[in-house]
Amino acid sequence: MDRTSLMTGIEKDWNKFLSLPISEKLPYFERDGRIYDCLFAQQLDRKSLTHIFEIADKLRTMTKKKEGMDFVNSLLSHKKAMLYFVQPSTRTFLSFLNACHILGIKTGEIRDTSTSSELKGETPEDTVRTFSSYVDMIIMRHPTPNFVEKTAWLMNKTNRPVPVINGGSGKDQHPTQAILDVYTLYRSFNSEIENKTIAMVGDLKRGRTVRSLSYLMKNYKNVKLIFISPKEFAMESDILEFLKKHNISYYETDNFEEGISQADAIYMTRIQDEHDKNGESKKVDISSFEFKQKHLDIIKKTAIIMHPLPRRSEIEISVDEDPRAMYWRQERNGMWARAALISIIFGVDHKVAALK
Ligand code: NCD
Repeated sequence: MDRTSLMTGIEKDWNKFLSLPISEKLPYFERDGRIYDCLFAQQLDRKSLTHIFEIADKLRTMTKKKEGMDFVNSLLSHKKAMLYFVQPSTRTFLSFLNACHILGIKTGEIRDTSTSSELKGETPEDTVRTFSSYVDMIIMRHPTPNFVEKTAWLMNKTNRPVPVINGGSGKDQHPTQAILDVYTLYRSFNSEIENKTIAMVGDLKRGRTVRSLSYLMKNYKNVKLIFISPKEFAMESDILEFLKKHNISYYETDNFEEGISQADAIYMTRIQDEHDKNGESKKVDISSFEFKQKHLDIIKKTAIIMHPLPRRSEIEISVDEDPRAMYWRQERNGMWARAALISIIFGVDHKVAALK
């Protein structure tokens, strides 16, 4: 078979797989009852989330002492990971890099397609397949919708499959961000996420973090969501349908002050103007969707303020001083949550859990 017809066959198979309902795809990305490729928030149920959080808590306490850190550093010292981040990233990249290093995993990185053979015309598919010849895990961020999923699907067909973790894919999903966001809720509310009201603010249409976070909310009873945005950036209907199907109550509003005053957690986001076609974001007035110092007086005393970061003007810098500002701790939580996830994928979590 020549290369073109081979590719066409693969493309056909891929398109068929892509169109399957998510419930049918999930087993393909598991091994031995454990998550193997972490691609979508829908892969995570309540039990697996709590397990990630408990392992993350354990890792952060154990590694405070040298003996604990030395032990954790040895857990996966025989493994290597490739970080393939071809979209801008500071904290997701750094937190994955440091999560790998905490577990002793050696890392390589590509952060720009202009330094890889993609510049010589190699397809992204062949490029990622190449990684699997050298490493034991691929952690990736890619602008093309579904490409991370396609990589995992392709990898699982090769004779050297390696797990793939989605560090942000197009506008669609950012599951590990959602894990660390829920970990932040879990730590802030003493593990009680039930009955909480969570307001998500900003570009809900194109923000992948709010999409993945919405999916995870099905694991917690009686959570209410408030989507606060200008109508141009309203949450997409597929997520609203998902919430309806799972009886998660939500409402949409453009009244920022009224919305945030009801919330236990306020999740601010940036306008995702990298997805603009003709600078359309500039035409939308977002000034009434920004969290200013004065808003600290109208939110609940027990509320927390979150942000996946990076921020622009969505949160006034002076708000950082308030004890309810949780975003810098949220950022650090990401490293522990990601280290916990990786330890689970490689099946060494029981060694962490067993330690006193
Ligand atoms: C987010 C992302 O990349 O989607 N950042 C992150 O991973 N912490 C949010 C954003 O870029 O606005």
